[in-house]
Order: sequence, then structure tokens, then C-alpha cells
Amino acid sequence: MKRLFACALTLGAALSLPLQAQRSERLLEKGWRFTREDQSQFSSPTFNDSKWSRVVVPHDWAIYGPFSFDNDKQHLAIAQDGQKEAMEHAGRTGGLPFVGTGWYRRSLEIPSDLGDRRVFLRFDGAMSHARVYVNGKEVGYWPYGYNTFAFDITSFVRPGEANTLAVRLENKHESSRWYPGAGLYRNVHLTFTSPVYVPLWGTQIQTPTVEASRAYVDVRTRIAGMSTLSGRPLQVKTKILSPEGKVVAQREEEIQSAGTERLYHTGFDVERPQLWDIDQPHLYKYVIELSDGGRLLDRDTTTFGIRSIELKAGDGFYLNGRKLKFQGACLHHDLGPLGAAVNEAAMRRQIRTMQDMGVNAIRTSHNMPAPEFVRLCDEMGMPVMAESFDCWAQPKVPNGYNLDFNEWHERDLVNLVHQFRNSPSVIMWSIGNEVPEQPSLDGAKLAYRLQEICHREDPTRPVTNGMDNPLGVLKSGMATTLDIPGFNYRPFLYDTAHKVLPQGFLLGSETCSTVSSRGVYKFPVVRKSMAKYPDHQSSGYDVEHCGWSNLPEDDFIRQEDHDWSMGEFIWTGIDYLGEPTPYYSDWPSHSSLFGAVDLAGLPKDRFYLYRSHWKKDAETLHILPHWTWPGREGEVTPIFVYTNYPEAELFINGKSQGRQRKDRSIKIEDTENEDSQKAFTRQKRYRLMWMDTKYEPGEVKVVAYDDAGKAVATQTVRTAGRAHHLELSADRTTISPDGKDISFVTVRVVDKDGNLVPDDGRLLNFKVTGAGSFRAAASGNPASLDAFHLPRHHAFSGQLVALVQSAERAGEAVLTVSAKGLPSASIRIQVK
Ligand code: GAL
Repeated sequence: MKRLFACALTLGAALSLPLQAQRSERLLEKGWRFTREDQSQFSSPTFNDSKWSRVVVPHDWAIYGPFSFDNDKQHLAIAQDGQKEAMEHAGRTGGLPFVGTGWYRRSLEIPSDLGDRRVFLRFDGAMSHARVYVNGKEVGYWPYGYNTFAFDITSFVRPGEANTLAVRLENKHESSRWYPGAGLYRNVHLTFTSPVYVPLWGTQIQTPTVEASRAYVDVRTRIAGMSTLSGRPLQVKTKILSPEGKVVAQREEEIQSAGTERLYHTGFDVERPQLWDIDQPHLYKYVIELSDGGRLLDRDTTTFGIRSIELKAGDGFYLNGRKLKFQGACLHHDLGPLGAAVNEAAMRRQIRTMQDMGVNAIRTSHNMPAPEFVRLCDEMGMPVMAESFDCWAQPKVPNGYNLDFNEWHERDLVNLVHQFRNSPSVIMWSIGNEVPEQPSLDGAKLAYRLQEICHREDPTRPVTNGMDNPLGVLKSGMATTLDIPGFNYRPFLYDTAHKVLPQGFLLGSETCSTVSSRGVYKFPVVRKSMAKYPDHQSSGYDVEHCGWSNLPEDDFIRQEDHDWSMGEFIWTGIDYLGEPTPYYSDWPSHSSLFGAVDLAGLPKDRFYLYRSHWKKDAETLHILPHWTWPGREGEVTPIFVYTNYPEAELFINGKSQGRQRKDRSIKIEDTENEDSQKAFTRQKRYRLMWMDTKYEPGEVKVVAYDDAGKAVATQTVRTAGRAHHLELSADRTTISPDGKDISFVTVRVVDKDGNLVPDDGRLLNFKVTGAGSFRAAASGNPASLDAFHLPRHHAFSGQLVALVQSAERAGEAVLTVSAKGLPSASIRIQVK
């Protein structure tokens, strides 16, 4: 019989807790040994691994290179890109050595007084085909490299004795379309619980009622190991903590211990809830304590948010009763120069940079994100579309997830949903990306089934699927099946789709794929598809795209003018390793050109185009190109201005080049033709373009006007003189002494007046002394072959970023950058 002890407490009352709960968890970061060799005895506890390298996990074995044309050279036709015949692709997966096997080993400390406690190992992601051994015995296998998985290893461990953990990983050739990373690139956790415990992801929280005055928080918690109580009742205490950490509701009751596992279902009223939202990411906590006769057995805490989501026909997506049109960005999981190795500072910087651009949602293309990434999105107010797969059973590459899909997809999808279903930032699930099954009836049925798995495990979030075959999915029924039909590219077919789709809205789940390089400009300035150049770069004028894609404004205009259009997720927010389209086989080319931000995290011009449109209330006034063009004197050198203001006047050396105003009268229908494309007609609604300006050295100045015709802001770009010194600036000058935190230092080669020298590509050398170390450097040059981890790297378009990692002690870290022909420069980072 249930006995209810107490219900809601007064706000702020504290609950007294015993000092030590039985659950303990630690990260297995240090003490690992690693090899790229492969022998079956590596799993054996008696094997001597002292000759292997010492590594710290998270660890990406492939990011250290070297880059090579031969790494994962793929001989095939990329059907999605329209290739009809097999051809050689190098650099598709980054040209880094991730293919092959790798082994990790370390000891596990299992206390001699383990008693009846249980022991679990959890991997947040291991790339890939992980086989895990404890004391020489295989405890489990998980093929998909992006998912979190866990094993109960209680029966494999020997308390008080030496215990060995060994993990074998294997990445196949032609198994990915981008750089996947390699090894134990995400965290590994060792958890001890009492025999009665809340299993991993055992709590599911829903907020079915969200009103200003009150929210209802519905909680289901699985409790395992009940039979070990031998019939004694279990005391269950639960409470809800507000964002300030005050107890706002609590409950205590006793439940009978029949059976082995029990689903404990309860609920709480929360008065005047503080909603989770983009600008106010309030987070609550749910704490459950299990006790046996006053002895605390387990305490488990779940972070959640109170917020509502709603889909409205004809109107799209609503968050907390407010329309949210997605200004989204697709992001791959790699962290540029760190590869796939998880690092919170790097993820935080990515999210912050996206927020600065005006991004209000991230799609974790095309796989499940690291738990740290979702936690940061929870904390920073960044909505997330959590994606699962890039393919189902039909292949995109010969050795991809297609080989495992039939056997594993349900387990993989369930883990994704269970892991993140309490995260308020996750606002929809995605079951796939451009799967070849799109046009088939069986494919539509499979989409339905995958969506049903998501609904079964989480009835609160809508499901989408990124589809690039609009006509195929309208015919097969796949588009009709989904909660949110997600269309990749081909915005000119949105209308056709909208007319026949029953949902009443559609999402640009992937858009744009404009290509550009930071600080590189090509002449004449004309719209081009799949343009290639000897330097393996694309034009920074933002006028080049792929055969299947378009320019940003081709999406802006539809997103703005159609209420039923739910918004878009651009491809991509940030450059990533691999997929250097259109340089498929043009080595060296190791990273994408799609990003609005480059691989080093530095904004390209396009960043400011998005910012000017997406962040109307923030001032953006950005001039391109740079104005240092020796040899181009007198030649037509167009000038573009990306600004949130409606109008501006441009001056070259004081001479007016005329005023330009964004033309809001431009319509979709009138511009659906080649002439408009050539004439940049749509662009005229969003960018200011002076197409006939001629280069003369000196100064370009722009004066922006507001709607009332008042001059409100100015910006200037000057012709740079000779390189004179280095300018260093850090994203954070104080970092934590945890041995993991990173300060990202931008290094600029400038002239004596501080003007960027825009074509400087000299070699820079790095040295870090004091309480930190040099971690990596990146320039954002997709054609560079410089290894990221070595303390020397070439600048690209006058800039690069050096990463300084904190030591595990407080102090000061000093980065010194030196280069031929220039005085050295230093920056001090406080580590405290
Ligand atoms: C899409 C695909 C992305 C990326 C992109 C490049 O078709 O979903 O993963 O390949 O094209 O334009």
C-alpha cells in the first residue's frame, strides 16, 4: 500500500540529505595506453602494454595526421551530388588516418569493499565497432560510433584486485562521407550504484501543462534491483529544485518492493514556473532518493526545463506560445583542430559564435551529439534538432552504417531518445538524412516506423527527416508521414510540396550550401556553380554554390515570405573536416568550404550576411572585400556591404560611389529565372552591392542610414602596408586550472597602423610557458597540410587561431608567437 507523507513544500524549504549517497561516478580520463596495432591478446589482463603510448581520453587518434591523399581514398560515385561514374575522391573524410584498428587499455580500480554494489561502464561514443573487455572477457559490443552505450560489468570485476579494461575499435575504409574521428573521442564513465538503483536514463520528465501561473511536472523513474530488498518497503523521496536551487516541491512515500524493476510515477505542481527559453535557459532539477529503513541507497539527479512546443498548420513551430522561425545551422561533430575529441571550451565557443551570428537552433548533422554539447545547449539556450542517422539500410558509402542498420537501428534510436529526452534544448528528433530509401513505399513505411519508435519513447517531441528528393517523397508518402516534413535544398519546390502536404508547414531541414573561403575573392564577381580554382578556394563574395544548392538569399526570401515555412538550417554554420566540395579529388583539400565560419572558428564574410538578416536589432556593418589589391589599380572590384540597416552610402578615398538601399519589393515569383540569378536580383533585397567600383589604394568607407534617413554608423577598410607586427587577442583571458580548458587566441598579421595584411600566409611559431600548454592551431585554410597539433602553422589570409590549454594548476600561461621578419608577440592567460 502506498503511503503519502508530504506533498508540496513551501518555496525555499531545504531538505536534509544524508552526507553520502551510494552512487559514485568518475570519468576515466587518464591512465590509458594506446596502440594502432591489432592482436587478440591485447584484451588479456596479462598482456604487457607498457610500450604503448600514454593517452588521455577523450582522444582522437587520427587528428595528429599526417594528412595524406591516400588516407581513405574513396573510389566511387557520390550519387547525392549527381556523380554518375565512380571517380577518385581524396580528402572526403579529411585525408586523416582514421581507418584501421586501435586498442585502448587501462586498469580499473574496484574497491575491495565493493560488497553488493553494481558497476557500470558508459561510453559517450567510441569510433567505432567498439568491443569492450574487462579482465579478458568481452562485456559488450557497439558498432555505431556516435552513440552512447553502457554495460553492467558487475559480474566481470574482481574487487580489490587488479582489473583491466581493454577496448578494441575498428574503422572501415569508405565508411563515412566526412571525417568521423577515431578512438575513444568522447568520455568514458565508471559508475558504482547500490543494488537498488535508478538505471541509466531511468527518469523521464514531461511538462504537459505549462502556464504562467503553474506547470505540471510529470515524472516516471525506473527503479531496478527491488528484489534485493527481500520484501522490505522502499522509501522514495523526490523533490524539484528551482533554477536558484530552492526546493519548490517535494514528496516522500514508501513503495512495496515486489518484482525486480518498478516504474515509479509521480508528479508535481510548480507555481509560477521559470520557463526554459532561448534568452532565459532556466533549468530545474529533479532529485530522487531511495532508502531502505533510513539507509540511503541511491540519489539520482536529472536536469530538466519547463517549456512548451507546439506545431501549427499554416504557421509553423511555437516555443512557449511564441512563433520560432528557425534561423538554424547544421553542425558536424568535429571541433576543427581538435578533431572529434570532446572539449567543452571548444563546444561552448562554437555555440557562442553561432548565437552571435543569430542562429536560434542547431541540427546535429547527421548523428547523435556528445552529451556535453546538449548540456551546453540546455545551459546556453540553444534549441537542438538531434539527428540519428545519415543512412538506413541502403548505402551511401559501401561500409557505412547501412551494414548495421537492420540489427541496430532500434537500439541506437532508443539510446538517443532516452539520453536526451529530458533536455529542454532538444526540440525535435531527426530520423535521418537524405536516405536513398526516400522514393520507395518501403522507405515511407520505415520512416513511419522510426518515427513511431521516437513517439513511443518520447511522446512530447515532433520528428523530422532531412529529405533531398522532394518529388520522390511526395510520391512515396514519406513526406506525409512525418510530424515535420524536412526538405533539404530545392526551395523552388517548397510551394509544390506545401500545396499537397497535410501538415500545413514544412521545414528547410538543410539549405544553402554556399561555398566560400575566408578572405579570398575571385574576379569577375559572377554567380557560379561548382567553380574551382588552382588555389582550391572559393570566392568570399558569397556568390558560389554547388550544383544542387544556392545562395543564402534564395532561402531568406522564401522563409520570410511564407508563414508556413518553418525556417531553415543552413549547411553549415562552421566548416568541418572532410567533404571539401567542389574539390573532390583536388588534393590538398581536407575540409569543407560550406561554413559561414571557418575551421579555425573565424567568421567568413557570410557570417555577417546571416547576422545582418537574423539579428535585426544588433548593429552589423561589414565591408568586403579587403582593400589591398596591388596590381588591380583601375580594375572593377565590386564592394558589398552586409548590414542590418536599410541603406548606405559608399566612399572610396572620399569620393561617393552612390547610395544603395535594400530593395524590399523583390518577390519570389518575379525572380525564379536565370536572368534574375545572374543579376543577383534576390541579393539586392538583403545585401548592398556596388558592382562597378574600381580599385585604387586608400580607404573604403561606408555610412549607414536608418529608416528615417539618419546616418547612424560608419565603417572603414584601408589598404594595408607592409606586415609590421602580430596582434594577439584571446576569446577568454581567464581559464580554469582543470587541464582541459582552452583559450582561443586569434593571431593577426598587421601593418604599422593595425590594418590586417590580407594575403599574408607566413609560418608562425608558438611557445607556451607557465600554467598551460600549446594544444593546437588552425588557419581555416582547407588546402593547408599543416598538422594542427604542431607548434607551427601558416597563417591564412593574414590570420589564424592558436589554442592554449590550461595546466592542472593555477598560474599564468604565456603564449609567444614568432615569425620571420616580425617581432615576437605574447599574450598572458590567467589560469585560475
Ligand atoms: C547534403 C548532405 C550534407 C552535405 C551537403 C553538402 O546533401 O545532407 O551532409 O553533404 O549536402 O552540400
